[in-house]
Amino acid sequence: MTGAPAAGSPSAPRGGRRPSGTGLFVREFARAPLRTASLVPSSPALAERMVAPLRRPSARPPVVVELGPGTGSFTAALRAAAPAARYLALELNPAMADHLEARFPGIDVVRGPASGLARALAERGLGPVDLVVSGLPWQAFAGPEGDALVADVAACLAPSGAHTQFTYSATRWAPPGRRQHRRLQRHFGSVDLSPTVWRNLPPAVVYTATRPVPAVDPCLAGR
Ligand SMILES: C[S@@+](CC[C@H](N)C(=O)[O-])C[C@H]1O[C@@H](n2cnc3c(N)ncnc32)[C@H](O)[C@@H]1O
Repeated sequence: MTGAPAAGSPSAPRGGRRPSGTGLFVREFARAPLRTASLVPSSPALAERMVAPLRRPSARPPVVVELGPGTGSFTAALRAAAPAARYLALELNPAMADHLEARFPGIDVVRGPASGLARALAERGLGPVDLVVSGLPWQAFAGPEGDALVADVAACLAPSGAHTQFTYSATRWAPPGRRQHRRLQRHFGSVDLSPTVWRNLPPAVVYTATRPVPAVDPCLAGR
């Protein structure tokens, strides 16, 4: 990806940290369980599902945004799937962002909430986006901002773009999970659900939302 080592090159942990960042996850989960939402990083099997839309042939290097990248499980898969992609991440937790930058030198990471998506894209003159990968927990969608965030994601996508979001199979039917599914259906013409990815702790499913509903206020207007 732009500004980062070529795909397939080994990640470059600094200071002896493990690339997957499991220790960091445990620590940050203890500090902020709802915001971190997991004790361990997602697995390569789940990451493969999350980046699957990038496997389509494309005439130009894709623009890819990652929301809540954590320690980079999905980032590694994105790099492998689209080495020439222009990549941008928004990560609220500075310790996670530090880890990501150490693991993928040169990567473009905004330290802040995913709600800064439209501004971050406008500041960089980036878009339309081909894939928005979200590792965000339900807490990031709490309150009225939740709907605005999904609307922003749909608004910044190219008409052929896609948005992937995972959820744990066990909590998929809980009210926040059902609410998120409805939001995706409101802002996208198509929302597909993957089979359960059993090789993840805990098992998870991936929503792939496509055919973004055109926005009245596209994010490239620079809100
Ligand atoms: C469940 S972890 C997923 C991390 C990584 N994508 C993975 O699957 O291993 C959730 C991540 O989202 C980040 N996060 C939580 N709320 C956020 C927000 N409002 N904006 C940006 N990142 C957020 C957390 O700091 C954490 O890194």
